[in-house]
Parts: sequence; C-alpha cells; structure tokens
Amino acid sequence: MDVGLLGTGHYAPENVLTNADLEKMVDTSDEWITSRTGIEERRIATDDIDTSDMAYYAAKDALEEANVSAEDIDLILVSTVTPDTPFPSVSCMLQERLGATKAAAMDVSAACAGFMYGVVTGQQFIQTGVYKHVLVIGVEKLSKITDWSDRNTCVLFGDGAGAAVMGEVSEGKGILSFELGANGSGGEHLYQNDKNHLIMNGREVFKFAVRQMPDSAVKVIEESGYKKEDIDYLIPHQANIRIMEAARQRLGISEDKMATSIKKYGNNSSASIPMALSEAVKNGKIEDGDLIVMVGFGAGLTWGAIALRWGR
Ligand SMILES: CC(C)(COP(=O)(O)OP(=O)(O)OC[C@H]1O[C@@H](n2cnc3c(N)ncnc32)[C@H](O)[C@@H]1OP(=O)(O)O)[C@@H](O)C(=O)NCCC(=O)NCCS
Repeated sequence: MDVGLLGTGHYAPENVLTNADLEKMVDTSDEWITSRTGIEERRIATDDIDTSDMAYYAAKDALEEANVSAEDIDLILVSTVTPDTPFPSVSCMLQERLGATKAAAMDVSAACAGFMYGVVTGQQFIQTGVYKHVLVIGVEKLSKITDWSDRNTCVLFGDGAGAAVMGEVSEGKGILSFELGANGSGGEHLYQNDKNHLIMNGREVFKFAVRQMPDSAVKVIEESGYKKEDIDYLIPHQANIRIMEAARQRLGISEDKMATSIKKYGNNSSASIPMALSEAVKNGKIEDGDLIVMVGFGAGLTWGAIALRWGR
C-alpha cells in the first residue's frame, strides 16, 4: 500500500516581532540577524493562544484540505517540545476539541525533527492496515521557553503550527523512502535548563546540521531510486538560511526549488517543515506528481528525512 499526505494546513499567529523590535530588547542589529540567519521577522503568539490552540487551527485547515472529517481520524500524533502542559498531552486536548472521538492520541518528542518522526510513525500504522487516517501536527510556542535577554537564541525562534492528514494514496505516490536518526551524545548542545529556557551551542549545532541535512537528503533520494537533480522541491528545516543554502548547493538545485519561510517565521522547531510544506502547496509551488524531499534536524540530537511523490 502507498501512504501519503492527503491534505496539509498551517497556522501562524498574527503578532509579528521584527528585527527592529529585537534591537530594542537586546544588543543586536537587523544587519547581524539577517546576514547570519536569514531571519527578518517571526510570529509570537499572544498570551491567550497556547500550543493546543495553534495545533487546532492547523489541524482544521489540513482536515478541510484533505476532505476528511475528524471522526474518521484513527490516530493523532503531535510533535512538540512546548506543550500546554506535560500532561494531558496536546494530542488529547486536540482529540477532544476536534471531536475525533475514535482517535488514539499521543505526543512525540524529537524536537525540530519531530514532524519527520510523526509522519514516519503514521506511515507504519497505515501501511500495516491497522489505521486508515492519521493526523500529524508539528506545533511550537517557543516564545514560552525563550530567554528574551539572551541574544544568542532569542533572535532565532518563533511560534506556529503545521499539520497533515495521512492516508492511502494511488500507486507510485506518497512516501518513497525515509531516514530517522539520533545521536544522544550531542544532547548537551541544545537543551532546556532548570529555568525552562532553551540553551544552545550554535556553532556545534551548525556543524552538525550542515553535514547531516544534505547527507540525509541524498540518502533518501538515492534509496527511492532517483538522483539529486530529480528533486522538484526541497523543504529543509528552517533553522538558518546558511545551513539551508549549504544543503541546497550540495544537492545542486536552484533557489526557486527550496522553501524559505524562515525569512518571515524564523525557526519554528517541529512546526517549520509542515508550515513550509502547507504554504508551498497553497501557493502552487508543489504540484501533483512532484518529487519532494523534507529534511530536518534538532535537539537530541535527532534528524529525519522523507522523499515523497506528491499527490493522492
Ligand atoms: C546561532 C548562529 C546564528 C550564530 O552565528 P555564527 O555566525 O555562528 O556566530 P558566532 O556564534 O560565531 O558568534 C559571532 C559573534 O556574534 C555574537 N552574537 C551572537 N548572537 C548575536 C546577536 N543576536 N546579535 C549580535 N551579535 C550576536 C556572538 O556573541 C559572537 O560574538 P564574539 O565573537 O564577540 O563572541 C549560528 O551558529 C547557527 O545558526 N547555528 C545553528 C543554530 C540552529 O540551527 N539551531 C536550531 C537547531 S533546531
């Protein structure tokens, strides 16, 4: 059975935080942020919008696009490192709010690679015939764990959500291959401290990402029986434009074939890839039959890549 994405959706909070705003908060400049990261602005959810709210809006969008009703969802997988509460899970909150009464629900913790872990997990349940429809969401309210006095990190992150409804697709479409990986020995480079703040060794994460993203992308594309030049659209984790550019150049694909939502959203951790994917579909950048590669990396350290043929 071929398993793919039947519909995608996303939600970005309205409240915009620009680089000029950050200049008033910490010792930084628009020039430093744009040249070192590619980020021009990011969205920050207001106090009345928590992680589960953003997940709900993205999920509704994806269900509508997929033309699947909430009652037909068998499993909800929410990837997040910033849940409303450690328990109950965001997926359970969503199950109730969507009215997905028959769905099992659990949260997945693999940081910025979490959406990749979610989609691959969903694929296993559908391919084995256990479930028919799986709802996967990547959502983060990173502003809750950002140290707004630390210029090394506060300029990088933003809030948002992206979602996909998974199910059976026609032969030759859907997920062609995947790679998931982890290296716990790198956990010290990106973690949450006892004040609940995100702490990062940017240089170490940069070195890891610049190697891992293209390696994983090449691996999944070759495992699917294709070559780098066959890629129609690349959706890398939106962490730093320089990391993304290094991946793009190693794959030898043109600028217009890579998602760059980082400019307006910053790094949304597990929401980055599904937000960029949903936007690309809505903007017509991804069309039926296109060969897509999604690739992410994050705290753990974790990574994941998926090659898929777009369409139902
Ligand atoms: C964080 C990152 C943008 C820093 O860029 P960089 O070019 O490596 O910059 P460096 O770490 O070498 O720092 C250079 C200088 O800029 C300073 N700096 C850091 N943040 C700054 C800011 N917002 N504004 C101005 N200066 C800043 C540093 O203090 C350092 O100063 P020093 O040389 O006096 O010590 C980059 O390392 C990165 O993107 N890493 C990967 C992060 C990532 O992907 N995280 C998400 C994982 S999911």
